Amino acid sequence: MSENPISDALNAIPYGFYALTSRDGDDRNVMVVNWFTQVSFEPQHVGIGLQVTSYTYGLIEKGQVFGINVFHKDDAEVIKQFTKSREKNPEKFEAANYSDGEVTGVPILDEAAAYMECEVVGKVETGSGHDMIVGKVVAAGLRKELKVEDTLTLPDIGWSYAG
Ligand SMILES: Cc1cc2nc3c(=O)[nH]c(=O)nc-3n(C[C@H](O)[C@H](O)[C@H](O)COP(=O)(O)O)c2cc1C
Repeated sequence: MSENPISDALNAIPYGFYALTSRDGDDRNVMVVNWFTQVSFEPQHVGIGLQVTSYTYGLIEKGQVFGINVFHKDDAEVIKQFTKSREKNPEKFEAANYSDGEVTGVPILDEAAAYMECEVVGKVETGSGHDMIVGKVVAAGLRKELKVEDTLTLPDIGWSYAG
């Protein structure tokens, strides 16, 4: 326990760890996120808490699409290489093995066990450093057999982005 019970409670959430892909024309990017969740059943909407200063934020603003790449625990090293920002690592996306999604054209990483292609349907501007981007899942697939208990989470790698 720390002196901040709100941070303690937020840190008690077992976040997943995903690669968020984005595209505007020939410009493609990938970043890691854990603030990702389904937010409605019908239509099937998802939400991401997204840093407004990230390169990805601008690409999603322009392209209006994004991809979520879900990994097996065994593939943690693949996603970890995308941790740095595009600003700090301008060549970041060159390390990605990918194909363009059939519906939105957003990059889908080859090593992802599951993926979702999403079209932006809304944005909640919070005035903080992160906005909530809401997307409709318009296509998805499983690349490998993935039981939910085998999906990569932040606790698996001992990292934290909450509080
Ligand atoms: C473990 C971990 C989880 C993260 N989760 C998020 C997240 O959910 N949302 C977010 O906006 N940034 C998150 N970040 C920070 C972004 O990955 C970071 O700002 C990224 O470098 C932005 O990349 P870009 O500028 O190339 O788009 C996380 C970072 C780490 C290390």
